[in-house]
Amino acid sequence: MSAPESSPDGPKTDPSTKPPAVTAEAPAIRPAAQADVGLILDFVRELAAYERLSHEVVADDARIFESLFGAAPKAQCLIAELDGAPVGFALYFHNYSTFLGRYGVYLEDLFVRPPARGRGAGKALLAKLAEITLAGGGGRLEWSVLNWNAPSIAFYRSLGAEPMDEWTVHRLTGPALRRLARTSRGFRVTMVVAAARNGVIGRDGGLPWRLSADLKRFKATTMSKPVVMGRKTYESIGKALPGRPNIVVSRRSGFAADGVIAAPDPEAALALAESEAARVGAGEICIIGGGEVYRALIDDVDEVRLTIVDAHVEGDASMPSLPFSGWRGEIVGAIAPDARNDARAWFVDLRRV
Ligand SMILES: NC(=O)c1ccc[n+]([C@@H]2O[C@H](COP(=O)([O-])OP(=O)(O)OC[C@H]3O[C@@H](n4cnc5c(N)ncnc54)[C@H](OP(=O)(O)O)[C@@H]3O)[C@@H](O)[C@H]2O)c1
Repeated sequence: MSAPESSPDGPKTDPSTKPPAVTAEAPAIRPAAQADVGLILDFVRELAAYERLSHEVVADDARIFESLFGAAPKAQCLIAELDGAPVGFALYFHNYSTFLGRYGVYLEDLFVRPPARGRGAGKALLAKLAEITLAGGGGRLEWSVLNWNAPSIAFYRSLGAEPMDEWTVHRLTGPALRRLARTSRGFRVTMVVAAARNGVIGRDGGLPWRLSADLKRFKATTMSKPVVMGRKTYESIGKALPGRPNIVVSRRSGFAADGVIAAPDPEAALALAESEAARVGAGEICIIGGGEVYRALIDDVDEVRLTIVDAHVEGDASMPSLPFSGWRGEIVGAIAPDARNDARAWFVDLRRV
């Protein structure tokens, strides 16, 4: 899960914690077994609720099982029990310090159910992890804690843990992670769009202008490369564009058309486009509209071939506004109005900086 840190036993001053019962048994710590998958997911959800991050939990039984007990486990888990009942968990994996030349342990989640706090289960989990870290020849046991979680921070300090104040966790996820991974595979994604000054790109299922020079640029830009489009744009064109793999996004399960590869969502369309790009030997995937598909994929785009049409036009489809701060643009051509071109226009190439 993406949520770091935990709420362990909490300090003794926490009014929600009960004083330890004198006769209570000490916590027992054991490795998680396959039968604990549902329990672990329950703990993860309870921890997320405590951290006010429930909306981020997309893990399910199958993913937890694969991560902990699959063919290539990526993480390990300890369960804490009190009086024979599970009350908490610690989920961890190994990291590595080049400076130490040693493996370490990274604690992803530590959680003890609130009614069981104050009986040492959190400390027992951390103590077992300290033992595991050293027994494996490791030099560091590390974890992150949310800055507002003062009770946990105080507890960690009481164990001798030092906050790494001069370090900031960096996270690459979602479209940014996909963009970078695509770079490694040698592909880039380009959005090809013509928009009026007010952002309009379409009207009544078609283009609101006739710009023959722009159609030529579109053809030169996209030829021999996979093109990704929405079902409405496909219908506005009326056929598959020749000389290019055509990937059409539609929610309709039965959608099919001649010369077209159907995709159930924009992300799947990109994956299919990449396979097609590899097949035809292209390094670029072109997103060719319309407005709904541009909006869905804008964060995956590396470059934009924008035609700015010098007009304010009425329409029912528009391009997403670009966050210009992260982009650099260059005017690479222009159209003068004439018999084949309705309006003045500029060709602008934009790329992320
Ligand atoms: N000026 C330009 O550069 C340019 C370029 C392209 C298009 N256009 C114009 O733009 C207009 C069309 O744009 P539009 O925004 O109305 O439609 P669109 O993006 O072309 O297509 C929308 C359709 O794509 C499918 N779709 C979109 N998001 C999806 C998702 N998340 N998951 C699954 N399917 C998804 C849906 O198809 P289903 O309904 O089948 O589920 C949806 O109805 C037309 O006027 C066209 O001429 C202009």
